[in-house]
Amino acid sequence: MKGSTDGQIAVINTTDGNRVQMRIGFFDSGLGGLTVLAEALRRLPAKDYLYMADTLHVSYGTRTKDEVRQFVLEAVETMVGQGIDALVVACNTATSIAINELREIYSMPIVGMEPAVKPAVEMNRATGKRVLVCATPLTLSMPKYYALVSRVDGDGIVDSLPMPELVEFCERLEFDGERIEDYFRRKLEPFDLDRYGIIVLGCTHFIYYRDVLRRLLPESIRIVDGNAGTVRRLAALLTYYGIPEQDGSGDVRFMCTGGDPAYIRKMRIALDRAVTL
Ligand code: DGL
Repeated sequence: MKGSTDGQIAVINTTDGNRVQMRIGFFDSGLGGLTVLAEALRRLPAKDYLYMADTLHVSYGTRTKDEVRQFVLEAVETMVGQGIDALVVACNTATSIAINELREIYSMPIVGMEPAVKPAVEMNRATGKRVLVCATPLTLSMPKYYALVSRVDGDGIVDSLPMPELVEFCERLEFDGERIEDYFRRKLEPFDLDRYGIIVLGCTHFIYYRDVLRRLLPESIRIVDGNAGTVRRLAALLTYYGIPEQDGSGDVRFMCTGGDPAYIRKMRIALDRAVTL
């Protein structure tokens, strides 16, 4: 990864002879999508990236659908103004609300995210155990989520658990410790964990807590997320559009609504953590 700008985005599409360098945009309400970017940096290290956080409006998960829709459309328009050529909506909440509209507006490749319920149900089928999907309240209340669950959960083994406070912890860079463990214990207390085979992390902010959860959960429970699948999908789309994986310089730029330099520093700290997960 090479150096980044401090929120100020310089020219992004530069021509080098006849070649136009492309930049992939990653969008999230805050720091969560950096876990997806970290996966992209592992899988596609030579590409150039622009990461945008909607700092002014995080958290999305406890807001209304209309608010989030508006925020997402505005933020993505700003990113497009900076010259992105592909977009990863690295946010389950934003995807569930705005992905169709984004695809109608823009012709560039767009990858969205949804809780990895389908792979979890498939992986779990043989065990006869249940699946617990953790996400934001808004994601879990959207028709897209209902449709997904009713499509893949014929046996009725999927339960859902909203965890909005985890987004707040994450935005404060509080990734571990007594308070986090207490929070998880409180949230998981009503569930008989022996009945569960898989926990799905259906919010990109939650990925930072995989290790804490691993410590707290019975060993038999697998923890599943959609990050690797999302980046595989991105790579496949780049191939489909004839964009070489090696074309770029591994440059990552950060941007946030409000342009607060302190938040840009926070993003760097969170990305450093995300690459170690
Ligand atoms: N990271 C986001 C997601 O994957 C949303 C977190 C929030 O802003 O509530 O759903």
